Amino acid sequence: MSLTGLFLTIFLIEHLIGNLLVLLQDGGAAFETYSEFLTSNPYAYLPLRFVEAILFASIILHAWSGFTVWLKNKRARLTKYKEYGIAENTKFASRWTAGTALLVFLFLVIHLKAFFWNIRLSGEHVSGYTIAHQTFSNPYYTWFYVFSFIVLGYHLYHGFQSAFQTLGLKTKKYSTLIETIAVVFWCIIPLGFALIPIYILFHPTTLALAK
Ligand code: HEM
Repeated sequence: MSLTGLFLTIFLIEHLIGNLLVLLQDGGAAFETYSEFLTSNPYAYLPLRFVEAILFASIILHAWSGFTVWLKNKRARLTKYKEYGIAENTKFASRWTAGTALLVFLFLVIHLKAFFWNIRLSGEHVSGYTIAHQTFSNPYYTWFYVFSFIVLGYHLYHGFQSAFQTLGLKTKKYSTLIETIAVVFWCIIPLGFALIPIYILFHPTTLALAK
């Protein structure tokens, strides 16, 4: 779980940087160049398909391991603790990992249908830039995305620290550093993603649609 989680975090950083190109006021030129490199550059094609296969395998593996750990914990404790004050002894983000994971997964299904399916698999040759503008000019989609990013932030905050703990790297010496990086992640990544739908929703006319 920790290794797939850290790999997915690296993907998220790359995905955020690439997607922020949508906000450049160039009619989608930079974003389309980036998109085309990802999907059709002849030199990068095979390596990128390989990384993509690892990405999807990591998502499935991460979700599956999370589900089995959750099930194991549930089965191991058939009767509830009487003395153990869960609210005092665990952090909110940690107690809600399963819930936040489920919401992130739901977001991912909706997101992949709206973007990945329509761009890559539907055969309609529609650009990511156009889909981003069509999707985020709808306030329901925009606020659903923003809500999902807040949930993703909670998930990352806990998951990031958890991964280092599992790998035995969250020692006393590095604990504060890891906690600080987790807070930065918890804020910057979701904030960066949220900027995209919010900006498009409130500036629908400043960004000309790509053909
Ligand atoms: C406003 C924010 C986001 C935008 C505008 C966006 C946009 C896109 C686009 C355009 C694609 C299709 C890329 C292609 O294959 O050509 C895509 C794919 C994908 N997105 Fe996002 N995305 C956003 C947030 C997220 C978040 C937060 C996650 C994860 C929690 C995510 C996960 C994925 C995955 C797994 C894929 C498929 C990977 C691939 O093969 O490219 N996205 N997204």
